[in-house]
Amino acid sequence: MSDIRPLPHVLNIKPYVPGGKLAGAKGRVAMLASNENPFGPSPKAIDAMREAASSVHVYPDPGYGALREAIAAATGIADPNRIAVSSGSDEIIHLLTQCYAGPGDEILQTEHAFSMYAVSAMSHGATCISVPETDLTAGANAILGGVSERTKILFLANPNNPTGTMMSVEALTALQDALPPHVLFVIDGAYAEYVSPEYEAAIRDLVDRRSNTVMMRTFSKIHGLAAARLGWAYLPQGVSEVFQRIRGPFNVNGLAVAAGIASIGDTDFLTKSREHNTLWRGKLIEALDAMGLPTPQSHANFVIPDFGSAERAAAANEWLKARDILVRAVGGYGLPTRLRISVGSAEDNEAVLAALKDFTASH
Ligand SMILES: Cc1ncc(COP(=O)(O)O)c(C=O)c1O
Repeated sequence: MSDIRPLPHVLNIKPYVPGGKLAGAKGRVAMLASNENPFGPSPKAIDAMREAASSVHVYPDPGYGALREAIAAATGIADPNRIAVSSGSDEIIHLLTQCYAGPGDEILQTEHAFSMYAVSAMSHGATCISVPETDLTAGANAILGGVSERTKILFLANPNNPTGTMMSVEALTALQDALPPHVLFVIDGAYAEYVSPEYEAAIRDLVDRRSNTVMMRTFSKIHGLAAARLGWAYLPQGVSEVFQRIRGPFNVNGLAVAAGIASIGDTDFLTKSREHNTLWRGKLIEALDAMGLPTPQSHANFVIPDFGSAERAAAANEWLKARDILVRAVGGYGLPTRLRISVGSAEDNEAVLAALKDFTASH
């Protein structure tokens, strides 16, 4: 009898490093490492989860009809049957990869892509190919240059995490037109709400233009429901049918269902969250630039100032930790000279700016 042995491609995966907690914090920690909503969840979502709590002994509706209809109504999607819901959008990434890519196949992404695309490719034995970005931004030519006969999925977060940059709708449309039909084009809209409602509608419409385009979304960011683990995707009919074959029948828990329905209808909360983000994202970029920390335009709910060297970025990270401020090191994303700072509450944004002002004066 031989020992149990994991598949070799699984052992090649480096475990995900989460934004995490701050060990040894002295007081309240400014949590600016995981792009969460500083307002928390919508009060309506909290009430809905409280009410749903007394029914958790009953399995959720495996078709998730009410949730899919609420998402369709809020986003102008005509056919709720082509919406799939998931336990976080990470699950969508994994399930799509499981459906479409295996050993010998390639997953395509750009240089500074969200880490779960590569993890998912590797965990299914597929190869992850990364193509270069220009000025931290994905571009159609480089992406098309990376497409081969073996490419099964192109994952593109737009806006992207951790760069915050995005391709325009025109550029996405041109890319979609040029992409061979054997490639599933997955537009990850985790941060789409921070751009504009018009942009959200534009990526929805891209799904309707082709049978190979998917839009992924999450309730973890602007909806403030990261711990509820709720994501969704708008799929072409054919992809939807394939996806439903492998989705677990109860892959979304009942509390998340209740929260999602309440949150997606709370347009006041979503507008307040977007406006706060736009205001503070601009203030953070301006202030960081003024400190000599060049910060590119971001379209998401975080910014990535450049400290000029990996050593200085690491020193700034330690400086912030010592002041109970948690931001994200992004060396693992190929950006060792930068830190990713989420847009937080006014108080936390002011705290991180004040701390970095002191840091730059002395380092
Ligand atoms: C681009 C992108 N896609 C997907 C996710 C996954 O989000 P969740 O699984 O919480 O829905 C994240 C989370 O940070 C992200 O940044």
